[in-house]
Amino acid sequence: MTLLRLVYFSENRLGGDDVARQQQMDGILAASIANNRRAGITGAMIHDSRWIVQVLEGRPQDVMSACLRIRDDPRHRDMVVADTIDTEERRFPYWWMASAAIEPDMADLVRRHSERDTLDPRGMSGRDLIALTEAVVSAYTDRTTPRPSLRAEADAEADAEADA
Ligand SMILES: Cc1cc2nc3c(=O)[nH]c(=O)nc-3n(C[C@H](O)[C@H](O)[C@H](O)COP(=O)(O)O)c2cc1C
Repeated sequence: MTLLRLVYFSENRLGGDDVARQQQMDGILAASIANNRRAGITGAMIHDSRWIVQVLEGRPQDVMSACLRIRDDPRHRDMVVADTIDTEERRFPYWWMASAAIEPDMADLVRRHSERDTLDPRGMSGRDLIALTEAVVSAYTDRTTPRPSLRAEADAEADAEADA
């Protein structure tokens, strides 16, 4: 089945400090996961205080209708669709929607895809935006999800504590 992969960027309109913005993002993510799961849409978004980049993939009509709904959301503005790609394969098959903040110490990663230290999606190709999204999400999950070996160690510690 031919799928559509769409990547856009927009200006982040979420207010408040980092913590407040993260909480609002968590709310957006929860609604997105519930809706996308129903519509068979997968994807990811990355964000900093200024910008949002999101990749949506699924059946073309489902991606387009989600995109139009998202475009009108006042929590961001000035959506620019950077690219739409017909494809047979998903880039984010395991995420109904992933979301990752671009942390200040990810400058190297940003530079690798954009030749700048901070994100400015305006000069970037759709291809680079998708590659950067993938890289940031994977850096972020490495950081926040314990690796299996670490998890096993933590479990062993918990068991030792329970035994003591
Ligand atoms: C940056 C951003 C990304 C969003 N991504 C999605 C998404 O992937 N899927 C989705 O259903 N809604 C997404 N939303 C939320 C929609 O704009 C809208 O609020 C939501 O779909 C309404 O869902 P509800 O009727 O279930 O509350 C996003 C909103 C923003 C601001």
